[in-house]
Amino acid sequence: MVLAILGGTGPEGSGLGLRWAAAGHRVIIGSRQAEKGMRVASELKELLPEGNISGSDNLSAVKAADIAVLTVPYSAQEGTLKHVGLALSGKLLVTVVAPTSTPKSRAWRLPSGKSAAEEAQETVGQDVRVVAAFQNIGAHNLKDLEYEMDCDVLVCGNNREDKKIVLDLCSDAGFRGVNCGALQNATVAEGLVSLLIAVNIIYKIKDAGIRITGI
Ligand SMILES: NC(=O)c1ccc[n+]([C@@H]2O[C@H](COP(=O)([O-])OP(=O)(O)OC[C@H]3O[C@@H](n4cnc5c(N)ncnc54)[C@H](OP(=O)(O)O)[C@@H]3O)[C@@H](O)[C@H]2O)c1
Repeated sequence: MVLAILGGTGPEGSGLGLRWAAAGHRVIIGSRQAEKGMRVASELKELLPEGNISGSDNLSAVKAADIAVLTVPYSAQEGTLKHVGLALSGKLLVTVVAPTSTPKSRAWRLPSGKSAAEEAQETVGQDVRVVAAFQNIGAHNLKDLEYEMDCDVLVCGNNREDKKIVLDLCSDAGFRGVNCGALQNATVAEGLVSLLIAVNIIYKIKDAGIRITGI
């Protein structure tokens, strides 16, 4: 598949992009500045010369892609989605956005009482299929393709077929994805981010994660 990663120049988007490229997907690193997207894409190509990785501005990336992946800070979510606007129409949008406050990302509830993923759905409208995933996957080890990720990806969305596509993307990136039900459950996945950051700080580690047992 062709994956456009919006804000793919950051550690989370570039790390996921590298893993998807290693699995054989075509990855476009999107940025507000095409040159920055191209620069990060060439850095990823150094790590994975055989990878089909390119860079562009966010809008061109979405136009060329089957699936868009949103990896910008929460504060940039609405503006980025409005900027790419109609190019998303009919496509699958995987949102990785986790609203956290700074410094040290203490727990933070959105004033709307909703998840950032539900807010994203409201911004893009019902013509775009939104699935939330990867909120609990730290960027720290993503670019080490040999590193075995010891955690699950919580996948929330309202359409079973769309979640199946994202569950496959989880496998392609080296994770077990778990279907966690409706998009509104993304509130929990997003809330876990502050919790996992706290665990990282308290235990002086970098990659606290979450596993669903009993499946
Ligand atoms: N880092 C993690 O470990 C981690 C883990 C789980 C989830 N997440 C979530 O994944 C998302 C990305 O995380 P990250 O650490 O990679 O973020 P980041 O480095 O802060 O930002 C990613 C990219 O977003 C773009 N961006 C930044 N500010 C922007 C603005 N005001 N308007 C438009 N675009 C802007 C930038 O790309 P350009 O300058 O190239 O446009 C930037 O490189 C966040 O929502 C985060 O909560 C992160």
